[in-house]
Amino acid sequence: MTSSQVDGTTSPTVEDRVDALIRDMTVAEKAGQLTQYFYLGAPDATVGASPQKAGEVEAALAAGGVGSLLFVTDPAETNRLQRLTVEGNRHGIPALFGFDVIHGLRTVFPVPIAVAASWDPATAERGQAVAAREARAVGIHWTFAPMVDIARDPRWGRIIEGAGEDPYLGSAMAAAQVRGFQGEHLGGPKGVIAGPKHFAGYGAALGGRDYDEVNLSDSELWNVYLPPFQAALAAGAGNVMSAYMDLNGIPATGNRWLFRDVLRDSWGFDGFVVSDANAVRSLLAHGFAADLTDAAARGLDAGVDLEMAMTDPAYARLPEAVQAGSVSLETLDASVRRILEVKLRLGLLDDPYVDEEHARTVLADPAHREVARVAAERSAVLLRNEGGLLPLDADRLGSVAVLGALADSRRDTLGPWVFDFDLAETVTVLEGLRNRLGSATEVRFAPGTRPAQRVFPSMFDMFPGNTPPDPEDFDDDAELQRAVDLARDSDLAVVVLGEWQQMIGEAASRSSLDLPGRQLELLQAVVATGTPVVLLVMNGRPLDLRWAAEHVPAILDIWYPGSQGGAAVANLLLGDVSPGGKLPFTWPRTVGQVPMIYGHTTSHEAEKQHTRYWDEASTPLFPFGFGLSYGTFAYSELSVDRDAVGTDESVTVSVTVTNSTDVDADEVVQLYLHQRHGTASRPVRELKGFRRLHLAAGASETVTFPLGPDERRYWNAATRDHALDASTFDVWVGGNSTADLATSFRTTTG
Ligand code: NOJ
Repeated sequence: MTSSQVDGTTSPTVEDRVDALIRDMTVAEKAGQLTQYFYLGAPDATVGASPQKAGEVEAALAAGGVGSLLFVTDPAETNRLQRLTVEGNRHGIPALFGFDVIHGLRTVFPVPIAVAASWDPATAERGQAVAAREARAVGIHWTFAPMVDIARDPRWGRIIEGAGEDPYLGSAMAAAQVRGFQGEHLGGPKGVIAGPKHFAGYGAALGGRDYDEVNLSDSELWNVYLPPFQAALAAGAGNVMSAYMDLNGIPATGNRWLFRDVLRDSWGFDGFVVSDANAVRSLLAHGFAADLTDAAARGLDAGVDLEMAMTDPAYARLPEAVQAGSVSLETLDASVRRILEVKLRLGLLDDPYVDEEHARTVLADPAHREVARVAAERSAVLLRNEGGLLPLDADRLGSVAVLGALADSRRDTLGPWVFDFDLAETVTVLEGLRNRLGSATEVRFAPGTRPAQRVFPSMFDMFPGNTPPDPEDFDDDAELQRAVDLARDSDLAVVVLGEWQQMIGEAASRSSLDLPGRQLELLQAVVATGTPVVLLVMNGRPLDLRWAAEHVPAILDIWYPGSQGGAAVANLLLGDVSPGGKLPFTWPRTVGQVPMIYGHTTSHEAEKQHTRYWDEASTPLFPFGFGLSYGTFAYSELSVDRDAVGTDESVTVSVTVTNSTDVDADEVVQLYLHQRHGTASRPVRELKGFRRLHLAAGASETVTFPLGPDERRYWNAATRDHALDASTFDVWVGGNSTADLATSFRTTTG
């Protein structure tokens, strides 16, 4: 069917309209549709090293040479720029507006690694649905999220943007975020297109150095790094973004195999692919393309439909490339078709503008802030609670010392990758505690240390407020002493330590995992006063907490908890809710151990796995999946319904979980699987099921997990195909990856 009947009139289908446009467009106009510009507003604003002047972008819009813009969040600006685009384009084709809506727009949610720590896909979905509603209201059609890169090296700053080290948890979080962003179907009025990124392997940067090369075995690529992308696409994601680095010697952005063979042919992806910012131009920096025209031809030919350009787009040279025959008109048209289709599906050709008044109402919706507070409560991970110091009893707290500059920093409470926030309504830990405790408890604050600074700033420092102040008149020794005195004088010290937000994220790799600056010294001095200490860690990567894990009675990882972070933290500390998050990565003791993962294989002298280094245990400080709660949980009656099944059949595992305390609390029940023998070596444990439960005091629940071919299939590097071996499988169920309650079953062929 090529047309539809509405009220007796014939209206052309999306396909018809796209065909008609493509027939009438010049090659230059088509190249324009495949070009995306940054728009930073200020006339002289720059992105990274490359200037992209607002005036130049506006000139390109007015000349019909732009298909998409990024970085515009003001609805009035969106409308103005859209008008320029529509009026400048012979066919009246509007621009697609994209943006990094990573963990919220106006309402800021905890950073993605934190939401992954909730082990609750529903929390991720709810948050991204709110983010999408706000984004769409201001005129954003598409988000460059979720980031689904597996990250196993915490030196890499972008570990904060994803779901950590595990492909199973990563896949669940990827799919949930896509559902949240896009809603019921792609193009709905409250949804935005989701773009899982960065395809593929970006998280394995050599040495954890952002943008550096990645060399991944076939087995790692297929078993670990690709599954979250597949899950995001299965959930309907309409876009995919390319990655910056070389993957096994070929730039990811020029990698035909990735986009044509895997993404389109194997997985049947029919959405559009965008390059990462300037990544087509960077094909020159890789020593891959000969010149900018060659870069354009090879990017498009590899399967990158749209170029995200910081400056001087390579795709503006596509007419020359077509003329020279280095890229075909069919390839060009196929990419243009994908872009036009998505614009039509979003209804942009019929109504490209936004309602500015409506946008204001949506952004101010108090219900959005509630979603953010609950997400922050569900994300926190309790790492230590000696002697049951937490939860605190407000009636017994005459005075509390809140220490550490991060406790009073609204900007840092939000974390990186936010640009449209409202600091005035951001709740810090200090404010949250003051609000929650009221006038009966004296809450006093001292920063203790000056904000630590990066040795090498990044492009994110150009955004106002991103670099913390470095006051000249800050007397380091006196301030440290003041904080210690305050702790000595108080019933309790809440010490907030971690990394300032610009120390983590893109272009924020580190060679160390230490607490920056004099923070450890502050913590040690405060603990030495004898006042009970609660350490709150503000972070997006594991930090070296070896000393704290032995000497500080209570440690709560609060991540960068977002707009309502301080309110959530106060509720957690006072026991209004129990922490229930679990670590989405293995927490190493020291940077020298990285990468360290729970899902490793074993070999010679496996029993000495924990003593591989002579100077430090080769075990983690906290294992993957770990997190305490104010409740304690007993696991019992683990069983599997059948001893042996065919390789194409499923078993069902069940277990009973009991909250054996008098506190209502959450537990994340985790199932790990191990294949004992087969046609390849398999990891000692792999997560293959999880469920976050809320159990009232004393309550029990029986949880079941299906284990079918999908949970047991893996990519086999020997046969270069997926395999389902006949084997014996060990199953563990418990509250973290070291769970010891076990059972087993067999699979047989024939
Ligand atoms: C570069 C980052 O790698 C990517 O994730 C982001 O979406 C773009 N810049 C646009 O900001």
